[in-house]
Amino acid sequence: MRILLTGTSGQLGRSLAKALRDVGEVITPQRAELDLSDIESIAPYIQHCQPDLIVNPAAYTAVDLAEKEDEVAYRVNAEAPTILAQEAKKMGIGLIHFSTDYVFDGSKSDTDGERALYKEEHVCAPLNVYGASKLAGEQAIVNSGCRHLIFRTSWVYSDFGKNFLLTILRLAKEKPELNIVNDQWGTPSSTLFLSDAVKQVILQLQDAEAHTQTTATWWQQHQGIYHLTPNGFTNWCEFSQRIVEHAVRLDLLSATLPKIQGIPSSAYPTPAQRPKNSCLDKSKFRLQFGIELQDWDVALQNCLQDMASSMKSPGAAN
Ligand SMILES: NC(=O)c1ccc[n+]([C@@H]2O[C@H](COP(=O)([O-])OP(=O)(O)OC[C@H]3O[C@@H](n4cnc5c(N)ncnc54)[C@H](OP(=O)(O)O)[C@@H]3O)[C@@H](O)[C@H]2O)c1
Repeated sequence: MRILLTGTSGQLGRSLAKALRDVGEVITPQRAELDLSDIESIAPYIQHCQPDLIVNPAAYTAVDLAEKEDEVAYRVNAEAPTILAQEAKKMGIGLIHFSTDYVFDGSKSDTDGERALYKEEHVCAPLNVYGASKLAGEQAIVNSGCRHLIFRTSWVYSDFGKNFLLTILRLAKEKPELNIVNDQWGTPSSTLFLSDAVKQVILQLQDAEAHTQTTATWWQQHQGIYHLTPNGFTNWCEFSQRIVEHAVRLDLLSATLPKIQGIPSSAYPTPAQRPKNSCLDKSKFRLQFGIELQDWDVALQNCLQDMASSMKSPGAAN
């Protein structure tokens, strides 16, 4: 299987590139070869590549900057996926795309002490440009009629790139006290967790092709939007406390812990508004693919453990 994988200089793209190595031939264009904001160039590149599957973790992900740079955000997050989908449709191949919990407004309220979870069919009402541009991308893919899987995920982090985990590890070394928002609820998702789940899905597709079904039947039965994060939920403050606790245990941080205090979102204003609750219900993914999901804290420990191991033996992680 020839897989065209975008965005491999990003967090998820990098993890997917590693995970999919033993699934097929992975073509990983850098931005100089495939610039998703250069809309006219996308279709010729795909035709030249002749992939069997397109996997698209590339995105404009600067949530706050998107409020000012809405044109480029829409180009990369909505127009480019539209072309990817049109080309996938023409070529009869599948498109695996990633979207975000920020398609929801977060107003779903808890009932009887139970955390309110968003299902795939819940009405979308993004609060910011980034979320709206990602929603437009989802809709274009679905409307194109191509074979597609759209995985909505949340709070993505890894040992690489720009993310909350690495920011907290840096700040914990620099500051004796951290004030972190504690009224936004969601689920941290490590790229290790996500890339492993996506790999398992692609292996199921390959297995179906090889044994039981035609590709068309598999896509008919499986295509759609899925929520994909680890199990459980937390807030940014608790997430940072767990990061620091595990990092100290694994010798990634010294034992002098910073004091971490919860603050409301109102005390940390940002250009883009974020949903207060973006906890996603993952039962559709679990049922459809039969893949059990880790708890978010287990996924966090695995990511930090990998970081600790690669520090002890540099190069081992690659
Ligand atoms: N980060 C999160 O917390 C989060 C939460 C929910 C959903 N998601 C979704 O998950 C997916 C992966 O996110 P991530 O955190 O891995 O993103 P990321 O680390 O910011 O990486 C984004 C990737 O997209 C590429 N890209 C951006 N503009 C491009 C363009 N014009 N042409 C070609 N490539 C371009 C970047 O390339 P350059 O290095 O050249 O810029 C980079 O490789 C995205 O679909 C995102 O919307 C992320």
